[in-house]
Amino acid sequence: MAEPTKLLRVSELVKRYETGAGPVPVLDGVSLQLAKGDALAVVGPSGSGKSTLLQIIGTLDQATSGRVELGGRDLGTLDNDQLAQVRNLEIGFVFQSHYLLPQCTTWENVLVPTLAATRETAAGAAPSQPASFSSMESVPQRAERLLKRVGLAERMAHFPGQLSGGERQRVAVVRALINRPALLLADEPTGALDHASAESLSQLLVELNREEGVSMIVVTHSMDLARRMKRVVRLEGGSLQEDGA
Ligand SMILES: Nc1ncnc2c1ncn2[C@@H]1O[C@H](COP(=O)(O)OP(=O)(O)OP(=O)(O)O)[C@@H](O)[C@H]1O
Ligand SMILES: [Mg+2]
Repeated sequence: MAEPTKLLRVSELVKRYETGAGPVPVLDGVSLQLAKGDALAVVGPSGSGKSTLLQIIGTLDQATSGRVELGGRDLGTLDNDQLAQVRNLEIGFVFQSHYLLPQCTTWENVLVPTLAATRETAAGAAPSQPASFSSMESVPQRAERLLKRVGLAERMAHFPGQLSGGERQRVAVVRALINRPALLLADEPTGALDHASAESLSQLLVELNREEGVSMIVVTHSMDLARRMKRVVRLEGGSLQEDGA
């Protein structure tokens, strides 16, 4: 059983892709722990397996061997329905591309993850929240508060095509947080943004980590974003090294 203070324990992950041209070794015994409220940047060369690692932690891909425990549960023991529930309620995802639904407004996009969640679990139980946080906050109240918080109060009825790249990415961040996940996984969230938008999104992630109590792992090529996180690890040659930075 994991200590209660550790949200995530990754142990000895090995990942090999089997291809027609032979096996592609990517992760060679990666171990990692994340405390509640922690903010971790993962850096490393292109092709070193950063996205692969994030996908395995997020249950979107399977390791060849090794273990991922989230909130004290071994994710390898869960069935597909349970994994879908973990992905929807306990983990928020942000990618380089926003993946917003073009035919839906900002408001609707943010509420999409709550459609699969029951009202009780989406708005009630709040595993990652500080106790001071009102568990009475309804889904629409949370959506409105977060959209205002990220500066999109005037953009709620707009469609993604009517938003700037930075605004779209902020919608994606609110969508990722709407179900109060304990863990936010972001894969190059600023990778497609101009310098100013990248900087403001980086700052926003830091502030949301503190304000919402959400733990985060951010994969990035941006040293500016990486050094804003509480810890930085480097993935290279299939293994992780803690960076002093
Ligand atoms: N489905 C797949 N089949 C075979 N090889 C794959 C597959 N997906 C990824 N790889 C290989 O695994 C390695 C790691 O890929 P990954 O996308 O995790 O790297 P990354 O660190 O995220 O790179 P980048 O910084 O460019 O995004 C690469 O060599 C890639 O070619
Ligand atoms: Mg990648």
